[in-house]
Amino acid sequence: MNAITRLAAVISLASLFPLAATAADSKGTIEVTHWWTSAGESAAMDVLRNQVKADGYTWKDNAVAGGGGAAAMTVLKSRAVSGNPPGAAQIKGPDIQEWSQLGLLSEDALDGVAKDEGWAKLLSPTVVKIVQYDGHYVAVPFNIHRVNWLWINPEAFKKAGIDKAPTTLDELFAAADKLKAAGIIPIAHGDQPWQNSTVFEDIVLAVMGPEGYHKAFVELDNATLTGPKMAESFAALKKLAGYMDPNRGGQDWNQATAQVIQGKAGMQAMGDWAKSEWSTAKKVPGKDFQCVPFPGTAGSYTYNVDSLAMFKVKDEGTVAAQKDVAKIALGTHFQTVFNQNKGSIPVRNDIDMSQFDSCAQASKKDFDAASAKGGAQPSMAHNMATNLAVQGAVFDVVTNFINDKNADPAAAAKQLGNAIKSAQ
Ligand code: BGC
Repeated sequence: MNAITRLAAVISLASLFPLAATAADSKGTIEVTHWWTSAGESAAMDVLRNQVKADGYTWKDNAVAGGGGAAAMTVLKSRAVSGNPPGAAQIKGPDIQEWSQLGLLSEDALDGVAKDEGWAKLLSPTVVKIVQYDGHYVAVPFNIHRVNWLWINPEAFKKAGIDKAPTTLDELFAAADKLKAAGIIPIAHGDQPWQNSTVFEDIVLAVMGPEGYHKAFVELDNATLTGPKMAESFAALKKLAGYMDPNRGGQDWNQATAQVIQGKAGMQAMGDWAKSEWSTAKKVPGKDFQCVPFPGTAGSYTYNVDSLAMFKVKDEGTVAAQKDVAKIALGTHFQTVFNQNKGSIPVRNDIDMSQFDSCAQASKKDFDAASAKGGAQPSMAHNMATNLAVQGAVFDVVTNFINDKNADPAAAAKQLGNAIKSAQ
């Protein structure tokens, strides 16, 4: 049974006609399900919340903590099952198509705004494909995050006698050895399935390049998934995991970021939402921290587009609020301020990047260059490449592997191929 059938089986018809709350003193109420709860994420979300309120609508916040969004998706499914979905929810990538196929997303709330605001000219075709279903906009895109980054504390590097940022996996391991010898945790990390898979996809990109990555995580090609390069990737993951704090537990990504900010750890492999934590701590890129492509992946770019999907609702006030959110989200001011807070780059292609810091400027330059030559790839770990069932299969295999000291890399590659086959 595929993911759509599975979801369809549990969602009752009643969910097509959800109730929507209206506050008497506002133009309409919109409830928004999302997982932007860290300090930096919340500062970014405030830009939207405040503007919606200023426009006369009531914002009902349904924030579900948990990086990567797995917990938020569970809440969203149960809301849909009980016929009570929110007006909007953070849904990304191919998952948007699945919710649309169930008939739950609104196909007419956004088209008018998109036409009036000229979205077709402002957005890249890659992004339009993600947020449209059957030729209609069903979600509003916010940003482009780069996933394949490495965040470095230069002070920790100095203490460990490392004079340059690593550019290959071997240099990464050599830097990690020096940090360890200096008593600093080399890699900050939390044992959550999505964090494990974020690091794993970085390594696959480094080992196989963008073509191999594409074959593995977009085409789901069995020979690539089970082949020697995948075994090599698992072996590199095992080596890297050896440089993570053994007492890390399932800490959140932002707690791991805090360890690097405080100099307790030297590096973190994480998407550029991590930059929002550095920014809220008033740290400056190039001085207090360094952002470099994950070693071995310069020239490639794993992208992650955040978007809010709009649910089919009857209440006219909520529909008006959905349109308001869409209009705000792609406005020039919002695209600038939100993304400065969030760590991402604008999804609109006409924003002046001189207002952004050096990491964002590098991200934009690298995205454009990688896109021009097939190096821009959708992030598997962040719901861009596959549906959630396939992604879940990868998460399980990778997390079991990382937690089993005796796990064999070649056997893990075979397991990965089998798990993906049965999830399809
Ligand atoms: C989302 C980001 C978010 C990150 C951590 C990613 O999947 O796209 O917006 O900041 O998870 O929660």
